[in-house]
Amino acid sequence: MQRREFIEKGCCIAIGTPIALALKSCGAVHYVTTTAVQNRLTVEKSAFEFVRKETVRYRNFVMLTSEATPHPICLFKIAENKYAASLMYCTHNGCETNVQGDLIVCPCHGSEFSNTGNVLTGPAEDDLQAFRTETDNENIYVHLA
Ligand code: FES
Repeated sequence: MQRREFIEKGCCIAIGTPIALALKSCGAVHYVTTTAVQNRLTVEKSAFEFVRKETVRYRNFVMLTSEATPHPICLFKIAENKYAASLMYCTHNGCETNVQGDLIVCPCHGSEFSNTGNVLTGPAEDDLQAFRTETDNENIYVHLA
């Protein structure tokens, strides 16, 4: 068992799952509300930045909301200028997924997906819906179609 997994499971056991889930959900998830233009979402790269103790730091992911999708899209930074966008909608039975560390997990029946949306643990059998991304110097573009 990895240290992170031990801490998360220990936290759930110690203080109860509802409280643990609330703590996770009120953590560092950064939401960006954007509008689709010609089936494309635009996110500034600076959305991944935040300042703590006067030092610029970087988030692993941001969560995109828009009128174009019924569920958020998780945008993970997977390498320099390389991003993965996955719809936060479980392919098993339609629950909205969450991010835990570098994984996307489903709270309903425990399916786990990689940060690129590939299914790692069932019961889900299919990957999350993925969207093509591209970048320029300032922005990340998520193509919805
Ligand atoms: Fe996600 Fe069942 S709905 S694992």
